[in-house]
Amino acid sequence: EPIRFLMFSASLRKESLNTSLVKLAGSIIEKAGGVVDHATMNDFDCPSYNQDEEAESGMPGGAQEFKKRLEACHAFIISSPEYNGSMPGLLKNAIDWVSRFRPQPFNEKHALLMSASPSMVGGNRGLWSLRIPLERLGARVFPDMFSLASAHHAFNEAGRLADEKLEKMFEDNLSDFMNLVEAASHYPCMKKH
Ligand code: FNR
Repeated sequence: EPIRFLMFSASLRKESLNTSLVKLAGSIIEKAGGVVDHATMNDFDCPSYNQDEEAESGMPGGAQEFKKRLEACHAFIISSPEYNGSMPGLLKNAIDWVSRFRPQPFNEKHALLMSASPSMVGGNRGLWSLRIPLERLGARVFPDMFSLASAHHAFNEAGRLADEKLEKMFEDNLSDFMNLVEAASHYPCMKKH
């Protein structure tokens, strides 16, 4: 059975560097035999979280869609911009909505986090803030996180990383993650998928 990966960028920007990175990751994973479900934050669009609204109207469509697509995958991959040293509020808001479902859809899901930024740190600080809610919700967040620095200069015309050594590091990061998810899929707790 092929391993299914839900992947999305946490940026809505048309020319998003994170979207470029997640697309490249998707093509590498497909080449290696994985099945990819590309989502966007538009698919998971949610109003600002409000517990009254939840009680009155239930879960918004975007949260239901996020849950459905999480449940259909073995693992998920997020490429997230760093906003002010943290994750974008949009992403945290969607996570907060989804965290209200029972069973809680992030629990036991493998996750790989990546980021892209024009800065020299590549948005890596934002990923440490993203780990906190995901791990709190039981996601198995992969230790290695790929952060693409100077991302506005990093891609070639084919959408690959112009620096071959860096591209190889990225491919290795993805294949390490794929191998872990593959191995874990044989454990009974994953059989429900
Ligand atoms: C940023 N940016 C940014 N970059 C960074 O490396 N560290 C940071 O803390 C921030 N903070 C920040 C806050 C806000 C509100 C914005 C709009 C931007 C810059 C950011 O990395 C850059 O705009 C990226 O291009 C955003 O990712 P996408 O949209 O290209 O995927």
